[in-house]
Amino acid sequence: MPPRPTLLQAEPALSDLLQLYAAPPYPSVRMNFVSTLDGHASGPDGRAGSINSAPDQRVFAALRALSDAVVVGAGTIRAEGYRPLRTRSAELLEARRAAGRPDHPTLVAVTASGDLPDRLLEGAADSGDVLVLCTERTPRRRLVDRLGADAVLVCGTDGVQPHQALSLLAQRGLVRVLSEGGPHLFGDWLRAGVVDDLCLTLRPTLLGGVGPRIAEVAALNPRATFEPVHVLHAEGDLILRYRVVS
Ligand SMILES: NC(=O)c1ccc[n+]([C@@H]2O[C@H](COP(=O)([O-])OP(=O)(O)OC[C@H]3O[C@@H](n4cnc5c(N)ncnc54)[C@H](OP(=O)(O)O)[C@@H]3O)[C@@H](O)[C@H]2O)c1
Repeated sequence: MPPRPTLLQAEPALSDLLQLYAAPPYPSVRMNFVSTLDGHASGPDGRAGSINSAPDQRVFAALRALSDAVVVGAGTIRAEGYRPLRTRSAELLEARRAAGRPDHPTLVAVTASGDLPDRLLEGAADSGDVLVLCTERTPRRRLVDRLGADAVLVCGTDGVQPHQALSLLAQRGLVRVLSEGGPHLFGDWLRAGVVDDLCLTLRPTLLGGVGPRIAEVAALNPRATFEPVHVLHAEGDLILRYRVVS
């Protein structure tokens, strides 16, 4: 039974994080974001990398280590410079091997335009696979040439349909799904009702101005409601985990 803290003053060790965030024994979808106190999901340079912190990065790495697939919208892939995923820490590699998982999670890119950077498509030694979820209208030749037809999955006509996407991933044994956003993907998946968990690091800073929030979506009716699972506290960050209740 994982520990159930309500507030930890000390920074949790990686082994505690692996227990606290252990994925349930059924297919699940978990979203992970970092936000400033005034709701910015990226810094002035347009990247989340400039608002995160060491404690947030540890949770980020633990969540990846617990997942089969990491799903990311193409906007985030382009903004953050994603490459195929690699589990770097020896402790996390050991945890994956002990759980019978491949060393690295599969990166799943979601796109309608097909505009994915070369550095993602060219693959990398000792890294996880890359899959693309796209639509019937997506120009696919370049993607298929680079990744192979088996790695380019059509999941909808105009947009990638979340239920269809998750079912195609499950058919490949990718059932513990982590999504690192971004905001449009989260909005879409919230509307489709497929999200089980929201992991959110709240950074104690204000940026002012305008910028993306964690969910870019038209007004939700009914609203999405969350129940807290835990609150961790490290170096001033609040590290929150919520379960989606409706
Ligand atoms: N704070 C955080 O934790 C965090 C996390 C992630 C991202 N971000 C920030 O968010 C910003 C990017 O925002 P964003 O809204 O552009 O990110 P996004 O949701 O990752 O990207 C949107 C794009 O992803 C593709 N996409 C998403 N849902 C789709 C669907 N259902 N069907 C087909 N394609 C779909 C489309 O790509 P195409 O245009 O290729 O068709 C769409 O234009 C960046 O500044 C990034 O740093 C912050």
